[in-house]
Amino acid sequence: MTDAAVSTAATSADIAAAVEQRRNFAIISHPDAGKTTLTEKLLLYGGAIQEAGAVKAKRAQRSATSDWMELEQQRGISITSTVLQFAYGGYTINLLDTPGHQDFSEDTYRTLAAADNAVMLEDAAKGLEPQTLKLFEVCRMRSLPIFTFFNKMDRPAREPLELLDEIEQRLGLQTYAVNWPIGMGDRFKGVFDRRHQQIHLFERSIHGKKAAKNTVLDIGDPRIEDLLDQDLYYQFKEELEVIEEVGPELDLDAVHAGQQTPVFFGSAMTNFGVQLFLDAFLDYALKPSAHSSTLGEISPTNEDFSGFVFKLQANMDPKHRDRIAFVRVCSGKFEKDMVVSHARSGKSVRLSHPQKLFGQGRESLEEAYPGDVIGLNNPGVFAIGDTIYQGKRLEYDGIPCFSPEIFAYLKNPNPSKYKQFQKGVSELREEGAVQIMFSADESKRDPILAAVGQLQLEVVQYRLQNEYNVETRIEPLPYAVARWVDGGWEALEKVGRLFNTVTVKDSWDRPVLLFRNEWNCQQIQSDHPELKLSAIAPVVS
Ligand code: G4P
Repeated sequence: MTDAAVSTAATSADIAAAVEQRRNFAIISHPDAGKTTLTEKLLLYGGAIQEAGAVKAKRAQRSATSDWMELEQQRGISITSTVLQFAYGGYTINLLDTPGHQDFSEDTYRTLAAADNAVMLEDAAKGLEPQTLKLFEVCRMRSLPIFTFFNKMDRPAREPLELLDEIEQRLGLQTYAVNWPIGMGDRFKGVFDRRHQQIHLFERSIHGKKAAKNTVLDIGDPRIEDLLDQDLYYQFKEELEVIEEVGPELDLDAVHAGQQTPVFFGSAMTNFGVQLFLDAFLDYALKPSAHSSTLGEISPTNEDFSGFVFKLQANMDPKHRDRIAFVRVCSGKFEKDMVVSHARSGKSVRLSHPQKLFGQGRESLEEAYPGDVIGLNNPGVFAIGDTIYQGKRLEYDGIPCFSPEIFAYLKNPNPSKYKQFQKGVSELREEGAVQIMFSADESKRDPILAAVGQLQLEVVQYRLQNEYNVETRIEPLPYAVARWVDGGWEALEKVGRLFNTVTVKDSWDRPVLLFRNEWNCQQIQSDHPELKLSAIAPVVS
């Protein structure tokens, strides 16, 4: 055997071992359900931070290093997504963080394209909320495994059985309770872990700053009845009997296919049930698996490195006016300074100065494996959805654009700023900060900003001013729904004149119909059943 062959064999075993111990996930939730709090507690167990509060503190420091993130600071919201990597229980865990504000959910949609698992976090007093429902639909499209965590059990909550029923009825997702709460609100005492048939009774710590102390008892332990109030104990036993009798068995194949969700109850703030959740999650979650491409399914253990860009972020550090491309590693091993092919342009690119991103901090990165995310400096080379690879040419399935809900003309009142305006608009579009459309009427040249939320428009204006020195004006348009036309212009011409809609073009010159409301959209669908409309843009390859 030659030296080269020996080293390749070692690398391949290396990759397989790295994949085995990697788990990657994103949290989907409605604002205020406790995502920041849960993230902090997970990092606390992972040893990535010593004391809860560090993530928020990091967030507060951000505006010191970034100009446009001042807006985050002013509004007290988190716009940007970052990737948090930490080690726990022999695993390397990548938490793909997503923006907290729903106006930036497009960013979350894209991040979900890089995730292998999703944790659906719900406030146990509220159950399913609108933003969670929207994000769930994106997970469903990708058949992502979904883990449910009902948070805030230390406050008055809805009945656990009712919460499970809601998921089954509204999402059509089978539930399997991995743990079961004992009491709620002031009387939330702990949870029963069905995996080990043990009761965990928690002691409250101040705001859950450190890992919670807990007492673990086997289900048959005679002390249980003394430690728990009688009524709580009997209620818990009754509910447990119900889920054991009528509930399904845990079926990991169904979990991995996104058909069954393992369910957990706890309180992120007081640290009840967080570690139990993390332990079970790591056992049940899907490890980095194959991704579909123009060459068919690409296994993560394929020796050739490959990955795709799922997010771009400009000017994270204004001193350098840099642009970072976030790449999800899909196969092989990434090494610093490696030369890869860029599928869209056909060019070779050296991946120097790769970065590992932790919140706003950055570390230089030497190597990465499937399931990891790397940050690459992006001097205008990468766009969202781009594939990079070594070996045989391949392209991963692109990342779809989702239906925007707010539309407005973007006007540049100062003709001398024409060039900066064009450059800014085009770069922000490439970065995915906003979708850009144009009127089908050639006499109207102003770009139409198409966004998911109002704040997204404000960020575009703010950045054009701060980064490109262009002051702009927004002129709102009265539309709320966009649909792409299957079959493009040809299909549209065939149906003839349409009422109560306008036609615009997206950045790839494809027709998009805008409607004032869902009702108008449905009306056209029923009047023209031959017209196939889609809320998700066809992928550009
Ligand atoms: P988000 O990122 O999903 O938007 O939510 P975040 O973690 O910021 O939590 C929203 C609010 O809910 C916070 O309160 C947080 O402390 C509280 N919270 C999170 N988890 C729990 C829990 O398990 N139990 C209870 N009772 N509350 C919880 P806040 O008043 O907005 O902020 P703070 O002053 O407490 O930090």
